Amino acid sequence: MTYLLALDQGTSSSRSIVFDASGKIVAMAQKELAQIYPEPGWVEHDPLEIWQTQLGTAQEALARAHLKAGDIRAIGITNQRETTVVWNRKTGQPIHNAIVWQDHRTEPACAELRDKGLEPAILQKTGLRIDAYFSGTKLKWILDQVPTARALARKGKLAFGTIDSWLIWQLTRGQVHATDVSNASRTMLFNVHSNQWDEELLQALDIEPGMMPRVLPSGAEYGASHADFLGQAIPICGVAGDQQSALFGQACFSEGMAKNTYGTGCFTLMHTGHKFQVSQNGLITTSAAQITPQPEFAIEGSVFVGGAVVQWLRDGMHAFERSSEVEQLARSVPDSGGVVLVPAFTGLGAPYWQPKARGAITGLTRGSTMAHIARAALESIAFQSTALLQAMSRDAVAAGAAPLAEVRVDGGACVNNMLMQFQADLLGIPVVRPTIIETTALGAAYLAGLTCGVYRNQQELADLWKVERRFTPQLDAAHAQALMDRWEHAVRQACAE
Ligand code: G3P
Repeated sequence: MTYLLALDQGTSSSRSIVFDASGKIVAMAQKELAQIYPEPGWVEHDPLEIWQTQLGTAQEALARAHLKAGDIRAIGITNQRETTVVWNRKTGQPIHNAIVWQDHRTEPACAELRDKGLEPAILQKTGLRIDAYFSGTKLKWILDQVPTARALARKGKLAFGTIDSWLIWQLTRGQVHATDVSNASRTMLFNVHSNQWDEELLQALDIEPGMMPRVLPSGAEYGASHADFLGQAIPICGVAGDQQSALFGQACFSEGMAKNTYGTGCFTLMHTGHKFQVSQNGLITTSAAQITPQPEFAIEGSVFVGGAVVQWLRDGMHAFERSSEVEQLARSVPDSGGVVLVPAFTGLGAPYWQPKARGAITGLTRGSTMAHIARAALESIAFQSTALLQAMSRDAVAAGAAPLAEVRVDGGACVNNMLMQFQADLLGIPVVRPTIIETTALGAAYLAGLTCGVYRNQQELADLWKVERRFTPQLDAAHAQALMDRWEHAVRQACAE
């Protein structure tokens, strides 16, 4: 038997999964990660905890699978993107906590870049809007704020990396300082056309080019893990940011194929092939996972509060004790009874881009109950995803391609059949759930397997992808449109100050 080990370092936990060559899960281990909130709007992780929990879960997954390192053909790494680490090359010690992608402390630095008129150049080179979400200004903040950091960087003593680079560095005991194109494309410092760090952007943010990791395709030989960690060296052959990895794991390899991941937030990506396409609808352009040096792209949008709305109902509203109870409560009523919940707790992202919007519940009547609100909360996940996917479809059409024909789904909340059916009803296209919904980790395993010869080509991976359930739209288009209109009306109220 052939096995692959995927390391999936996410925002809330580190996970490791052993897959067999057919993509079946053999064993899995997971450890939570402490979230550090030093000030409102700031979010940090301890990089050493990230490394230790990741290594711990890898060891545990191997033990649970009753396998030894020698049984594993290759490691694939996938990770929370944009989160920024700077460490000392000699000691391997981080010089500051990791600044997490959700952290907004660098808004002022972003405003400065906008004032300097850099927006069009950044969009053209990187595909991104100027935003504190991306790594560039987080790295600049560390260099500006940590005493002596910039001087040390100038002397070549510091290294920068997103979480993939940090894990590769640790796994190889400092032998390899590298990242992949999909992670690099989230830094706002990377030219996605030439697949190289952009000198002008590095200069604009006063970042030493010598700090930056080497950039490789997502499927490539990165080096090998040090024998001390897992008992024997294992080659690292695949690396991708988690959302691009999920796109790969869903076998969305060509133009027009899209996936939506239902997690705490939702991340929607549509492959655009080798075409760099700027969205006309508030989405961003990103590098897709690449197995050759030739650039491939995707259009991306995210919903800030997806499954998190269920946590809010549980912890904030005390609507139930366990999140799994939400479906039963929501199913106890035939519909939301006209209630619409807009979970704009931290503003609204694409395609609305309303940072000042706040949550709203509309359509309440004397007959409204917690069940209606629970139903509206679940529906809000589908409404937000629909707005994103429809924007994507409009972008596809504007670029002369066909509109979106179906969407592949994954992530924890996609097991909720009511939500998936409602999603298909709103979109008017099939929503397709595969047999394996751990597609983020699977994508990294596939990238590693492809590079080390477990798979011959992407077609073989596409053949492994199997439908578990296809949700076809059951609402007529006019009814679906009326529901979307009601949603948009509620969004406008959430945006009114
Ligand atoms: O861009 C942020 C994303 O990569 C984080 O994903 O699943 O770790 O919350 P997740």
